[in-house]
Amino acid sequence: MKMFLPCWLSLLALMPLSFGTKAGVKVKLTEKGLEYGRQMGMASIQQKLKTITVPDISGTEKVPPVGKVHYSLTNMKIMDVGLPQSEVDLVPGTGFRLAIGNAFLSMNGNWRVKYLRLMKDHGSFDLNVKGLTITTSIAVKSDETGRPAVSTVSCAATVGSASIKFHGGASWLYNLFKNFVDKGLRKALEKQICPLVADAVSDMNPKLKTLNVLAKVDEFAEIEYSMVSSPTVSASSLDLGLKGEFYNIGKHQEPPFSPSNFSLPPQVNEMLYIGVSTFTANSAAFVYNKAGVLSLYITDDMIPRSSPIRLDTRTFGAFVPQIAKRFPGLKMKLLVKTVKNPVISFEPNNATVQATATVTAYAIQPNATLTPLFVLNLDISVSARVFVSGMQIAGAITLNKMGLTLGTSYVGDFQVRSLDNIFQMVLKLVVIPKLNARLAKGYPLPTLGKMKLVNTQLQVLKDYMLIGTDVQFMG
Ligand SMILES: *[C@@H]1O[C@H](CO)[C@@H](O)[C@H](O)[C@H]1NC(C)=O
Ligand SMILES: *[C@@H]1O[C@H](CO)[C@@H](O)[C@H](O)[C@H]1NC(C)=O
Ligand SMILES: *[C@@H]1O[C@H](CO)[C@@H](O)[C@H](O)[C@H]1NC(C)=O
Repeated sequence: MKMFLPCWLSLLALMPLSFGTKAGVKVKLTEKGLEYGRQMGMASIQQKLKTITVPDISGTEKVPPVGKVHYSLTNMKIMDVGLPQSEVDLVPGTGFRLAIGNAFLSMNGNWRVKYLRLMKDHGSFDLNVKGLTITTSIAVKSDETGRPAVSTVSCAATVGSASIKFHGGASWLYNLFKNFVDKGLRKALEKQICPLVADAVSDMNPKLKTLNVLAKVDEFAEIEYSMVSSPTVSASSLDLGLKGEFYNIGKHQEPPFSPSNFSLPPQVNEMLYIGVSTFTANSAAFVYNKAGVLSLYITDDMIPRSSPIRLDTRTFGAFVPQIAKRFPGLKMKLLVKTVKNPVISFEPNNATVQATATVTAYAIQPNATLTPLFVLNLDISVSARVFVSGMQIAGAITLNKMGLTLGTSYVGDFQVRSLDNIFQMVLKLVVIPKLNARLAKGYPLPTLGKMKLVNTQLQVLKDYMLIGTDVQFMG
């Protein structure tokens, strides 16, 4: 038993750590998306097939009445490859199938014959291969880094007909070569096509490896987008489950909550659907709160000049007279700080964030010492408008409601309610614009290579946001 342990461990080391956990982000590739992939893939297959090389062929045949003829076909080159028909279908459980029909190749080369000891002849020829059919099955799996990977499961290629046209030479030559063309060349081509198609399929893997499985967000956070399971393929879509979790950079600590089950609706109008769950959003809140960055010192110079409300003991003294009496003519400073993870929830057409914070108010003494005046508990609910900008998901929040209760007072009893308006102003003029400046910068979505999103729509649904989009690859 002991002996097997190292094997097990090495096997585990190959698995992405997240394998088996639930997805925070789901991605659905529809048939429309696959069709776009087919168009890109066909160009690659066409390039590959242009590299078919046919080795020189030579031999001796007995051709009555001339007798033994020594022949050779050399310098055979592919001039053109046409792939006028192809289609791709999802294969439930596996991946997809690509069927190419009516393809054609044209080649040219040189022929040479020797017979009757002294007679020699040579010329060129054109060869057209028609009715070429290629069918290949491609599996989609997760690689050891949690990125998708494709491989060819099966491939079959058949050549319909081949016709050869000689330039120069006697007509009996045609019969000599015709036999060869029908058998030998057909075999040579059929043998090369599938490996080249498999090459074109493998060539997709370096592109798939560009999936940003660990996307840097800012100096504090990164998002993990590795796949948490193998893709599921149904008759209408290929679905990926991605981890979709924010982490502190370099320090991956799990939050005290996990993704809930959610499934994307069966929409097919766009190429790609990306579902971002509340888990992903809440893991961000967890990370930023943990990093201690959800706190803000507010000073009077941060309040717009035009505002009648100033952060000083005169303004506050109008509502809490003890402040004006004990600390006349001083500026004030506020520290707003979350006390627990803000909670983000998605209901249809409604993204909200609930946060609980404390606000500590200080008077700034002439010698710069901060004298605490009071601590308030602040409950805030904000609505978020969420949108996609480039390859980022971004947002903007507005204040829904705010509730203040007294935590501690160093200036005696006062009516907290009387400060509601001041704090509403502070939130609207300072805190929310600051948060919005950060939210506008956005958070990276899962992306492959130079991918661009077009016709993008975002809907907030129960427990997740759904992004429906077409994509374009820029090279
Ligand atoms: C989520 O799905 C799993 C497996 O299908 C199930 O065991 C679990 O109870 C579900 N959880 C919820 C909250 O529905
Ligand atoms: C949005 O949802 C929150 C909490 O889920 C709720 O308090 C608020 O009233 C909702 N707003 C709208 C406009 O439905
Ligand atoms: C700063 O001024 C306050 C109020 O006058 C005083 O209580 C405090 O001791 C002073 N602190 C220092 C470091 O001078």
